[in-house]
Amino acid sequence: MTYQGLLHKYGHLLDLPPHTQTVSLLEGNTPLIQADSLSRQLGGGFELFIKYEGLNPTGSFKDRGMTAAVSEAHGRGATTVICASTGNTAASAAAYAARAGLKSIVLIPQGKVAAGKLAGALAYGAQVIQIDGSFDDALTMVVQITNKHPICLVNSLNPYRIEGQKTSAFEICDRLGSAPDWLCLPVGNAGNITAYWAGFKQYNEVKSTGLPQVLGVQAAGSAPLVLGHPVEKPETVATAIRIGKPARGEQALQAAEESHGRIIAATDEQILHMQKTLATLEGIWVEPASAAGLAGLAIEIGNGTLNPKGKRIVAICTGHGMKDPDIITKDMQKPLIVPPKLEALEEVILG
Ligand code: F0G
Repeated sequence: MTYQGLLHKYGHLLDLPPHTQTVSLLEGNTPLIQADSLSRQLGGGFELFIKYEGLNPTGSFKDRGMTAAVSEAHGRGATTVICASTGNTAASAAAYAARAGLKSIVLIPQGKVAAGKLAGALAYGAQVIQIDGSFDDALTMVVQITNKHPICLVNSLNPYRIEGQKTSAFEICDRLGSAPDWLCLPVGNAGNITAYWAGFKQYNEVKSTGLPQVLGVQAAGSAPLVLGHPVEKPETVATAIRIGKPARGEQALQAAEESHGRIIAATDEQILHMQKTLATLEGIWVEPASAAGLAGLAIEIGNGTLNPKGKRIVAICTGHGMKDPDIITKDMQKPLIVPPKLEALEEVILG
C-alpha cells in the first residue's frame, strides 16, 4: 500500500484528540541502515544500525512530532503556531504550518543557527525573530506569549510532539522485530529521548518487543543533565543541542535510569570526529549534533563501560549534514583549480 505518512500508519497508537486533522508531508518511514564498517572501526562483534532521520521532509526528526502537533492545532482551528528553536524545529514548524495554511513564528538564538535551518524557515515563510540570548531564553518567551495570547506552542512541551516522535521507536521495532539492546541518541531539550522511551514502552506493552538501554549524549559544553545543574551559557559546535535548561530534563533522566542506561557528554572534538568518520566510512553525512549519539557510543566502548559484543545497537542520526554546510567548508582547503585540459587533470590525479 502506498505510504501515507505517520498519522495514517500509527495514528491509532497515538494519544491525539478527535478534532485532529491530518497535515502530512509523508514524514517518517526513514531507513535503518546497517553500518558494518563503523561497527568494525569500533571493535566489531556487534550489529550497528543508523536510523537516518535526516531523510525526513525538512531534513530532521522534528517532522514526526510536527505532523502531530500541527494536525491537532489545525483541527482545533488555530491560526498561528510559534516555537523557540536551535533551527530544526523552526524549519519543520514553518513547513507544516505552510501546508496547513497557518502562520508560523519562530524565535532563534541570534547568530547560532546553522545556515540550512534558517534558510528553510525563511523559505517556508515563517516570521523569523532572532533573540539576543540563548535558546533557553527564547523558550521562556514563547511559553510566556502562548500563555497570554491564542497562539499554539509547537515546542516539545506540546504533548502531541512527543506522541508523533514515538513513531520512530515503533518503526525500529517493526523493522528489527524487537527493540535493540542499546539506543544511542543526542539530547538537547530532551523531547526526543522522552518520546523514544515512551514509544518503546508502549510497543513493549502491546507487542512484547522488549526495551532498549538508552544512551543519551549531550555536548560537553551544554551538558546540564550530566552536570546536574542548568548551564547558563551553553556552548558547542553542535548548535542544535546548545541548550542549558532542557524542558524535559527530568524525563530524560528517568528514561536513562529506567532503561538501565545513562546520559553522558561528548566533546566537540569527539562529535566532529564521529561526524567525519560516519560520512567517510559509511557515506552518511549528518549534522554535528546528530553524530553525538555515536560519539557517545565510541566513548563508552573505548572506556570499557559498554560491552557491545553480540549486541544490536541503533544510533539515531537526527538531522541531515546539509543543514550545516559551514561546519565542513569553513576549515576546508579550497579544491584545486586546474585548466580545462586532459593533461592537467591527469597530472593531478595520476601524479
Ligand atoms: N539533534 C538535532 C539535529 C536537533 O535539532 C535536536 C533538537 C536534537 C538532536 C535534540 O533533540 O531537543 O528533543 O533533545 N533541536 C531542537 C530545535 C532544540 O529547536 O530544533 P531534543
